[in-house]
Amino acid sequence: MLTLQSILCCIVVILLLTLYYFIRRQYSFWRTQGVVYERPWFPFGNLGFLMRKSFPEFFRELSIKYKCDYVGIFMGWKPTLVIQSPELAQQILVQDYHYFRDRHLYSGYSDPIGAYNLFTLKGQLWRDMRNELTPIFTSSKLKSITEWCNLSATELVMKIQRDHIEGNKAVNTRELFAMYISDNIAFTVFGIRESALNGEDSPMWQLTQHIVTWNFWRGLEFFLIFFLPGIASLFRLKVFSEQGSQYIKKMFWNVVDERRRRGFKDSKDLVNILLQLRGKYNDESNPEFADDLMIAQAAVFILGAVDTSSTVLSYCLHELSHHPDVQEKLFREIEAAMHKKQEKVLDYVALLELKYLTACINETMRKDTPIAELDRICIEDYKLNDDLVITKGTPVLVNTLAIHHNEKYYPEPNEWRPERFYGKVHSNQHFLAFGDGQRNCIGKRYAYMQMRAALVQIIYNYKVLPGMPYEVKSHPYSITLALYNGGIVKFVLRSEN
Ligand code: HEM
Repeated sequence: MLTLQSILCCIVVILLLTLYYFIRRQYSFWRTQGVVYERPWFPFGNLGFLMRKSFPEFFRELSIKYKCDYVGIFMGWKPTLVIQSPELAQQILVQDYHYFRDRHLYSGYSDPIGAYNLFTLKGQLWRDMRNELTPIFTSSKLKSITEWCNLSATELVMKIQRDHIEGNKAVNTRELFAMYISDNIAFTVFGIRESALNGEDSPMWQLTQHIVTWNFWRGLEFFLIFFLPGIASLFRLKVFSEQGSQYIKKMFWNVVDERRRRGFKDSKDLVNILLQLRGKYNDESNPEFADDLMIAQAAVFILGAVDTSSTVLSYCLHELSHHPDVQEKLFREIEAAMHKKQEKVLDYVALLELKYLTACINETMRKDTPIAELDRICIEDYKLNDDLVITKGTPVLVNTLAIHHNEKYYPEPNEWRPERFYGKVHSNQHFLAFGDGQRNCIGKRYAYMQMRAALVQIIYNYKVLPGMPYEVKSHPYSITLALYNGGIVKFVLRSEN
C-alpha cells in the first residue's frame, strides 16, 4: 500500500518533471523558430547579470556578440525578441506600431500611480491621455518655460561658484543636474517656486533626490517591474513607493489649495491641465479614479525627466571635459549668440539656433544612450519578414545601443564626435534616444530646452576640465545609464583665464 510519504514524493517528482518539460519547451522556443538566440539558464533565462552589470552594458554586449538584425533572449522563461536593425525598429515603432502599441512592463495593478501613468498605460486610455497631455509642450509654452530654465541655469552657475570654486566641495555632476532639473520640474509641473540650488527647503528635491540614488533594492524592484513583470505582479511591487506616492499627492493638493486660496486660475502649467482632466474623467462609481489618473501623470513627468536629463547632462560635461577643442568651439558658438543678442541669457529661439550645442547633446545621447532599449509587447500575431511571425504576447525590445553603435551608420562608434550631428541633416531613423513613433518621449522638446539652458550657462562661465579618467563605469543598479561615481569634473572660471 502507498504511504503518504510516497504519494507526496510522487507529486513532487511529477511537478518537477512538468516544470522541467515546461522550461525545456520554453527555452527551445527560438531554436524552433530558427532565430539566433542567447543560451538561457534557469531560472533567470538571460537576466542572470541582474544587479551585477547595468542594462546598457548587457544590451551593448549583446550587440557585439550577435551582429544580426534580431536576436532571441529569455527574460526569465519568457521568449523575448531583441531588434537590432534600424529598418526593423522603424517597422515596429512607426510603420506597424498598432501591433506594438503597448509596453511590456508591469503596470502596477495594486499601485494606481504606477498603473495609470502615460508610460505604463495601455490601449485606448493611453491614447486618450496622450492626446490630453500633448499640448503641454507647445512652442508657446516652451517659450515661457525657457525663461524659468534660464533662471535655474543662472542659479546652477551660482551654486557651482559657491560650492565648487569658493567652497572647494567635491563635485557630483549627476546630483548637481538632478537638483537643477528638480527646480525646473517644480515650477513647470507644479508651479512651485522653490530653489534647491539656492539652498531653499524644496519639497520637490526631497522627492527627486531618491529618484537619482540607485541602491540594490530599488534597482531590483525596477528590474523586476521592467523585465519580469509576472514576478513584480506577484510581489505587488510599485513604481512609486507608498511614501513617494503619498508625498506627490500631498504636494499636488497643497499647490491646488494654494491656488484656490489665491484665485490663481489662468496658469498654463501641468497642474491646471491635470485639474481639467480630473473634471473630464470624474466617475461617480469610482470616485478615486480621476484623482489617481491625474496624480499618475504628474508623477511620471517627474520620474521621466529627472533621471534621464541629469544623466545626459553629466555625460555631456564629462565628454566636454575630455574634448577641449569641442568645448572651445561650443564656447565660441555661445559667445557669438550672446554677442548677437547683446544678452548673457538666451531665449527660446536663440537656444534653438545653437546647432553645435544640439550636436554635442545628440552625440552624447548617441554614444552614452540613457535608455538602452525601447520596450513593446506584440498585441496581435505579426509577420516580421518571410522567416518570422512574432506571436501575440511576445515582448519586443529595440536595442537602441546596437543601432547607435553600429559602424555602418556611426563609424568608430566609441569616439565622441559632435560633428556627426552637425552641418548635415541626420537621418532620424538611426537616432532613437527619445524613442520613435506614437509612443516616443512626450517631453523631448522640453528636455532639450532644459539641457541647452544649463550647458549654455556652464560653458559660457567656466572651462570644464577632466576630474576622472575618460573610461567610466556605469552604475549596475540603475535601469537607465548612470555614472558609477555620479560624475566628477573641475570648473575653472573663464574670466580668470
Ligand atoms: C534627456 C531626457 C530624456 C530622455 C533621453 C528620454 C527618453 C525617453 C524614451 C527613450 C522614452 C520611450 C520612448 C519609446 O518607447 O519610444 C520616453 C518616454 C517618455 N518620456 Fe522621456 N526622456 C527624457 C526626458 C523626459 C522629460 C523631460 C519628460 C517629462 C517632462 C519625459 C516624459 C516621458 C513620458 C511620459 C514617456 C512615455 C510616453 C508614452 O508612452 O506615451 N521624458 N522618454
